[in-house]
Amino acid sequence: MKIFLIGYMGCGKSSLGKKLAKTANMEFVDMDSLIEQREGASVSDIFAYAGEAYFRQAERNLIEELAEQETSMVISTGGGVPTWEDNMTRINSIGESFYLRRTAQQIASRLSPHGRYKRPKLRGLNDEELVEFMTKNMAEREPYYMQATHVVDCSDKSDECLVEYILDKIKG
Ligand code: S3P
Repeated sequence: MKIFLIGYMGCGKSSLGKKLAKTANMEFVDMDSLIEQREGASVSDIFAYAGEAYFRQAERNLIEELAEQETSMVISTGGGVPTWEDNMTRINSIGESFYLRRTAQQIASRLSPHGRYKRPKLRGLNDEELVEFMTKNMAEREPYYMQATHVVDCSDKSDECLVEYILDKIKG
């Protein structure tokens, strides 16, 4: 079984993914971290020296690599993965995807200065610009995110509650 967590930057895919994997006794893969580790560079640096298309191809290659593995895993995707080529169709053919849905306001209020800095698309935006950019960008991405097998309204739910919800869905 492969569980893909998808959603906008900063919606909590990685932290929830870790808890979910631990509870379900599954392997945890954070796509951004694995790509950074292999490239020996941060996502921001990869964007800067190789360009976004290179990074998107690395993401797709990783999805294909994970598809080959027999192990059960929770995979935390980067926020742009669903918007690239036919990634959502491919992801849904490999396992089940969960869209962690939050509003731009909620995400902006959770995002630390470092969290903003390390993401090339958010770096340098002030508070007002951040919410404005996210609102517009999320609206463009929503049709891709909505292709997920499950849409999870995360607004007022704790991680523990979300873990339980997701485990319940995959059992059912
Ligand atoms: C991106 C999301 C980031 C990272 C890169 C681009 C995006 O991942 O892959 O900065 O385009 O939404 P997170 O969703 O883990 O922040």
